[in-house]
Amino acid sequence: RKVVKFCMENKKILELRQEMTLKEKIGQLTQITGEHYVGKIDNEMVETGPGYSQQLLEGDTLYTIGSIIGVSSAKITNLIQSEYLKKSRLKIPLLFMHDAIHGYKTIFPIPLGLSCTWDENILRDVAAYTASELRASGIHVNFSPMVDLVRDSRWGRVMESFGEDHLLSGNLGGAMINGYQKDAEGKISQDGVAACLKHFAAYGAGIGGKDYNTVDMSMREFFDYYGKPYEIALKEKPKFVMSSFNTFNGIPVTASKEMMKDILRDKYQFDDIVISDWGAVSELQNHRVAQDGREAAELALTAGIDIEMVSTLYLENYQQILEKNPALLHEIDAAVLKILQLKNELGMFENPYVDEDLEETVILNQKSLQFAKEAAKKSCVLLKNDSLLPISKEYKKILVVGPFANTQELLGNWQCKGRFDDVVALSEGMRLVDESLELSAYETLEDCPKDELEKCDYIVAAIGEHWELSGEGHSSVNIELDKQQQQLIKDIKKTDKPYACVCFSGRPLALQDIIDDIPALLWCWYPGTQAGIAIAELLTGKDTPSGKLTMSFPRYSSQVPIYYNEYSSGRPANESSYSSRYQDCEVGPLFSFGHGLTYTNTEYSNFKISGHKITEGQDIKISFQVKNPSEYEYSEIAILYIEDLVSKAVRPIREMKKYQVVTVPANQTVTVELVITLDDLHYLNGSLQQSVEPGEFKIYINDLEHSVFTIEH
Ligand code: GLC
Repeated sequence: RKVVKFCMENKKILELRQEMTLKEKIGQLTQITGEHYVGKIDNEMVETGPGYSQQLLEGDTLYTIGSIIGVSSAKITNLIQSEYLKKSRLKIPLLFMHDAIHGYKTIFPIPLGLSCTWDENILRDVAAYTASELRASGIHVNFSPMVDLVRDSRWGRVMESFGEDHLLSGNLGGAMINGYQKDAEGKISQDGVAACLKHFAAYGAGIGGKDYNTVDMSMREFFDYYGKPYEIALKEKPKFVMSSFNTFNGIPVTASKEMMKDILRDKYQFDDIVISDWGAVSELQNHRVAQDGREAAELALTAGIDIEMVSTLYLENYQQILEKNPALLHEIDAAVLKILQLKNELGMFENPYVDEDLEETVILNQKSLQFAKEAAKKSCVLLKNDSLLPISKEYKKILVVGPFANTQELLGNWQCKGRFDDVVALSEGMRLVDESLELSAYETLEDCPKDELEKCDYIVAAIGEHWELSGEGHSSVNIELDKQQQQLIKDIKKTDKPYACVCFSGRPLALQDIIDDIPALLWCWYPGTQAGIAIAELLTGKDTPSGKLTMSFPRYSSQVPIYYNEYSSGRPANESSYSSRYQDCEVGPLFSFGHGLTYTNTEYSNFKISGHKITEGQDIKISFQVKNPSEYEYSEIAILYIEDLVSKAVRPIREMKKYQVVTVPANQTVTVELVITLDDLHYLNGSLQQSVEPGEFKIYINDLEHSVFTIEH
């Protein structure tokens, strides 16, 4: 990978900053949409929030702006760039930023699906392919990854998350940052883009699962759980962090010095660029912590929000703000310097344009499509299987039925520039993967001619929740499968044919009422461009599903929030009435975090532990063998949990501490070794101090209790 050389020495950058007027500096801290330079942009603009007045952009102000959101393609970005540079006094090129959340034109599974691979290599490569497509289309910054911890699948944005565990979310986010930036020698390479970690912080904990809602939690909960994924992912040095829409402890994060400075900058040591979320500076007025635009801008600037996204209150009010608070100039200068340094690192002063021939070779190329298929296969989770999958070879006449049988709308929300026309539908995928099948596909059973239904050997029900029902601004009170589709499953059952269900959705759904009628269930999330082929390879047994859940499935809509690492209760959940449970629902989720079946009959054995005591400098190693007696080579996900038997402050019933994704060749056995160190056992005690306490811990590998160790001081 080629490394971009600095085109200018830092000294030159400082000189450039010196030449800038105050207005030109504030322009660098402002991000607007692209149509101001070239007029209406058809089929190119992606808007992800309400419109805001972008005032005072006439005349030379427009040519001080630092970055553009929502347009892409080499042609358009080049056009905007050249119009801008013609009139910009200092010829500082525009940065282009975009949301390619799970791919740009080649669309990979939604992040929640990707997380079910548990595989950092896959997430890194997804990000790397996405970065190549973005950069070829003139984009420099991607608003991804999102590592907001989630426990409530009513929130529409769980689809963009990596689930309910903080360690896994942090690690997968870190892997994506690596993949986007493709840093070599600490610099973004020529086909990489700057990553933007978001949304800082705790955006996934909005009360009641409502988007943009208030967050209120203890600092202990924040530092041990909700803050952790950012803390971990920040180690991979994303160039940007985006602040979140929510309030935290009563203060909107966009105006929170505590969040943005004390925690993000000082505690987590982030020293690069902070950008607000869409319109969030202006929305401080809606939160009613600012009485007007001037106050909103001042609050955000003071909190350390470097770039204002979409609204233009910095530009409208900077003179008054600085008159009142001249010390802010120092921070403005620091922010401007970071932005100029990034533009320099990307080689933009030397060449602000992108080669318009690149897109053709980079976008939707065979390699990325092949990888999209692999990623899609590995993100599917087999939730249930009463020996009905894979579809037995003796069944040739297959009927695929349901609203997802023929549709190409399998990209999921945040589909960026993905086109449905490029997507392989489920029925099409089945035909491509096995030509010997006599396949027919209908949206409803009524559409299927009677004799065809009678003659078919096997039915695949293609069900789910429409992609537009999850994503930003799409929280729901009801997360159950709709009644019509429940009826479809009951009708299929009545035919007495063998059948299985394939389900698409952007969130875990609540399936208690229908699960007994589903003998086999493959959860596919939204798999992206290669959906149909990937699923067909799993259904027909060319490959085995191997994903494991990263988010618990509730039984009913009102059983959320639900997550595996709940704290121990004084009255632990059990069948008795005086226990921590709902009286009208079984205890626990329908499918829990870590659940996922394969076709392999894998066996774990030969557990060994290197010692039973952990001290400073003395770790313990836990090893075991994973035997794959099947014909499939696949990725086994081995998960180690601990249970802290007694502690001063309450601990979770179980905590995932280590995991490993191992390739196990067909008919072979591999040994897995996981190490637990003293550091892994730190937690914030009741006085908010990091501590490890002597005592006993149980170890579980997946669902099996394995061994006990102690910490000694
Ligand atoms: C939004 C989102 C954020 C996104 C931004 C820019 O409203 O919350 O995730 O990156 O707009 O499109």
